[in-house]
Amino acid sequence: MSENTPDQPGHRVESPVEDAVEEQTGHVATGTGTGNREVLVDARGVKVHFPIKRGVIFDKTVGHVYAVDGMDLQIRRGETYGLVGESGCGKSTFGRALLQLEELTEGEVVFDGVDLATLKGEALRKQRQHMQMVFQDPLGSLDPRQTVEQLLLEGMRAHNMVKGGGATERLAELLQAVGLPRAALNKYPHEFSGGQRQRVGIARALSVDPKLIVADEPVSALDVSVQAQVVNLLGDLQEEFNLTYLVIAHDLAVVRHISDRVGVMYLGALVEEADADDLYAQPLHPYSRALMSAVPVPDPVVEDTREQILLAGDLPSPANPPSGCRFHTRCPWRQETRCDTERPELRVVQIDGAPQSHRVACHWAEQIASGELQPHEVSVELTDTTAVESNVPDDVAPPTAADMA
Ligand SMILES: Nc1ncnc2c1ncn2[C@@H]1O[C@H](COP(=O)(O)OP(=O)(O)OP(=O)(O)O)[C@@H](O)[C@H]1O
Ligand code: SF4
Ligand SMILES: [Mg+2]
Repeated sequence: MSENTPDQPGHRVESPVEDAVEEQTGHVATGTGTGNREVLVDARGVKVHFPIKRGVIFDKTVGHVYAVDGMDLQIRRGETYGLVGESGCGKSTFGRALLQLEELTEGEVVFDGVDLATLKGEALRKQRQHMQMVFQDPLGSLDPRQTVEQLLLEGMRAHNMVKGGGATERLAELLQAVGLPRAALNKYPHEFSGGQRQRVGIARALSVDPKLIVADEPVSALDVSVQAQVVNLLGDLQEEFNLTYLVIAHDLAVVRHISDRVGVMYLGALVEEADADDLYAQPLHPYSRALMSAVPVPDPVVEDTREQILLAGDLPSPANPPSGCRFHTRCPWRQETRCDTERPELRVVQIDGAPQSHRVACHWAEQIASGELQPHEVSVELTDTTAVESNVPDDVAPPTAADMA
């Protein structure tokens, strides 16, 4: 474990994806100006706990995986909210919970003024028209036996959008919007390249005219050059179709460039949230600082001289999360008081240059920012992951596009 802090925690995070995004269209989210917008999605105290079952005859619950454990997050109309965090921290589960594809253990999700828990059956199905998902693996989420035309029509039919002769026109409009030729209509998903398939997945989500798109790792399965094209496409479509996005990604570079605001998630909850530019200029939570210091800088001089915070150990098991601050087992700034016993709230901090919109869940954020507290060695604690690994069924598949209809 390094004792170091990055000498430039606010260095510009650069990557081939970012450069390509800028080069190709100049599309960069401003990171400002969304503060006054009306809230479209309001998630309060959301928890999703999966039971851990044991026993062949009696399916006994012996514990829980606390996949999402107290998420408060608001997404404003027309903005792009980027959600980042390590693998297994609960990003996808939260995304699915927003769309009611995962049952909430606690908390509520209000979408466009409607508490989704009050909707059942047909009413919930109708509401789903406004909330669509784009998946990491379009091949896994698109029915391989359906042509693109059938795939696009399926969702539209489910929401009574195929009436009269307007469907052909709409299909042409959708294909044009995502940059696919008309001939694509008669093809099957396997006949496309990865990037083209993701365009089909996006057209499928768009086909029902949604207000919100949850894009779960939309480009992480694609080549870097193609990633930039798809990121830019999402940006262009947002303006054209008045979309609101929740973009889930582990790649900070992808999230930075398309997000107005960014939330950093650790073991089931947000540890920091800010306008994208503020977060990248001044990450305040020790976990965010470590994440950002891990992103390489293309300038070899800066890269050689900058210091990095290496995170000690693996992500602790969400079946047995640490007490107090969930990050205390890996935190180089952990203190003897509060850190192990008191779970920090996401709060506005009194730090120069940090606006009200920049919130951090750390008891000691001010003292860390001022340098009053210095980082120290962290000894790695072994993590028991067996409970979780044995709990996740091998055949858990992500919801398909058809589930969204
Ligand atoms: N159906 C399920 N049953 C039990 N545990 C689950 C289930 N789905 C997810 N989990 C567990 O919940 C935790 C959060 O999983 P999730 O997929 O939401 O993380 P993630 O942040 O999206 O990770 P990744 O970046 O790898 O996609 C993990 O420990 C995972 O194993
Ligand atoms: S509350 Fe303590 S353990 Fe948690 S991030 Fe802050 S300093 Fe680290
Ligand atoms: Mg995921």
